[in-house]
Amino acid sequence: MNASTITPRVHLNTLSESDKKKLAKETYAKKSYFQDVFKHDHLELECQKFSLSFRNEIQRILIEKNLVQDQVPLENLHEILSDEMKAYNFDDGVNKISTYFYETDDSFMAVYHQYIKFLRENFIREPFWFQKTATIRIHCPDAKNSHHYPRYHTDISYGHPPEEFNIWLPLTQLLTGHGFKTMSVPLSKSILEKFDYDYPKFIGAAIHERLFLSTCDALATPVSTAFGKMLAFDSRCIHTGMPLSAHTRVSIDMRILPLSQYDRMHYEYQGLGRRKILFTPGHCYHEQHSDYFLNTIGK
Ligand SMILES: [Fe+2]
Repeated sequence: MNASTITPRVHLNTLSESDKKKLAKETYAKKSYFQDVFKHDHLELECQKFSLSFRNEIQRILIEKNLVQDQVPLENLHEILSDEMKAYNFDDGVNKISTYFYETDDSFMAVYHQYIKFLRENFIREPFWFQKTATIRIHCPDAKNSHHYPRYHTDISYGHPPEEFNIWLPLTQLLTGHGFKTMSVPLSKSILEKFDYDYPKFIGAAIHERLFLSTCDALATPVSTAFGKMLAFDSRCIHTGMPLSAHTRVSIDMRILPLSQYDRMHYEYQGLGRRKILFTPGHCYHEQHSDYFLNTIGK
């Protein structure tokens, strides 16, 4: 089956609020694809070659886009970036320096597609859709509006399909911490249960309620994935970025949707952000699935 032969789906936003909550409850009640295949809700994997390649690509693009004049270790980037580059937009938690990486170039994309091939051969043993453009984040210490973070969420609560899972890859050393925290599926479930699986209510509390924030702070675990490894996790895990204390963290994140899961989805999903992106091939996901790269890229 391919994307064009799939029966049209119901758009999630056409569901009533109570049906959305029912669906969310079902999502947390069952065993996910991720748990089924990988037997955990978090998993670390070796990918040293790609950590190094991505890091080199970021350093090259920083110079080519005239964002820095000389090459510095990415961990020290905050020392040479202007306050304006580092400051977060309080609403979406994005800083200006990261926006320069919304678009990369052919060289970066070639590495990314090799990485997709690597994932297909070594990790996900079936064809999958993948995020067309990986998200590159550059988080700096002492940046204006750092108090945007923590912003506890799941990508599902921002509109992503629960059939996805997340991949997160540090491109800097752990040093005093990556400024990234996650929770297990059981803990995430216990939290969503308290909100009767109402995602907007959960997100609202995560932004505005101090007491709820300290509960999340106590339950979430700092991610300590070493440079050279990647972290994959169940999309139901609550997670957040945190303010950085002493060094710059650069990371890449992306989402994977196995074709077997996509083909059985009953709903069409759409992001809640500014772009209102559709979670379909050719929109959020690359128009070609993993096996195109498996078969077209040389070793
Ligand atoms: Fe997220």
